Amino acid sequence: MTQSDLTDMFSEGGGLPETLPGDPMPLLRAWLDEATEAARTPNPNAMTLCTATPDGRPSARVLLCKAIEVDPGYLIFYTNSRSRKGEEMEANPRVAAVFHWDEPGRQARIEGRVVRSPDSESDAYFASRHWTSRLGAWASDQSAPIGSRAAMLEKVTQAVIKLDLDLGALLDGGEVNIPRPAHWFGYRIWVDRAELWSGGTGRIHDRAVWTRSLGEGDAPETGAWSATRLQP
Ligand SMILES: Cc1cc2nc3c(=O)[nH]c(=O)nc-3n(C[C@H](O)[C@H](O)[C@H](O)COP(=O)(O)O)c2cc1C
Repeated sequence: MTQSDLTDMFSEGGGLPETLPGDPMPLLRAWLDEATEAARTPNPNAMTLCTATPDGRPSARVLLCKAIEVDPGYLIFYTNSRSRKGEEMEANPRVAAVFHWDEPGRQARIEGRVVRSPDSESDAYFASRHWTSRLGAWASDQSAPIGSRAAMLEKVTQAVIKLDLDLGALLDGGEVNIPRPAHWFGYRIWVDRAELWSGGTGRIHDRAVWTRSLGEGDAPETGAWSATRLQP
């Protein structure tokens, strides 16, 4: 075997471009779009979100990434602001998130700061959800204890009564107005560190990290990205 055969062998698999792009966000979005198109799993937009208390106790759970805005560079997800993660994010807006696409062997790691989406955006997304999910958002005090499954289902019935919904119309598929609960929001993760990882032969994966500065506030100023290839 020649040196060139060895190099060829370890070059197998779709890695990162030899010259790293200046901005990782278009590549991240392309990876998500590709995974969505390939539809190898029911939720290719699933990501694990890690939050942490101000004293550094971390917690993680799976969420759906509903959009990636390449410019200016944030990801959007939706949740209940009174949930465990919601309270942690209020106290400490620094978060990390990870996507894993087993086929074609890719991982994307994101770090940044969360900011609530504008109400109009949360309203529009909430209105697009199936009525069962909209009702569920009213019924569930997400992350709070409940005595039994039956008690939870009773809370769903109570939400129908509280919202004065026409159950017949809902079950017949009619359109019924269910407003967004005040504690249910979109969150934007303004990214200041993104790592893209592509699996390779013999664990010689291809990794690169991009970092940039992020200012304060809800629409932070962002610095230029800087890219660095990492050893696997
Ligand atoms: C595939 C999948 C997608 C999920 N998507 C969401 C989501 O978009 N928003 C959400 O609040 N919870 C979602 N969940 C539930 C969360 O993982 C979690 O149980 C919930 O948000 C409560 O987390 P917390 O107690 O840490 O706040 C999803 C779970 C799975 C398995």
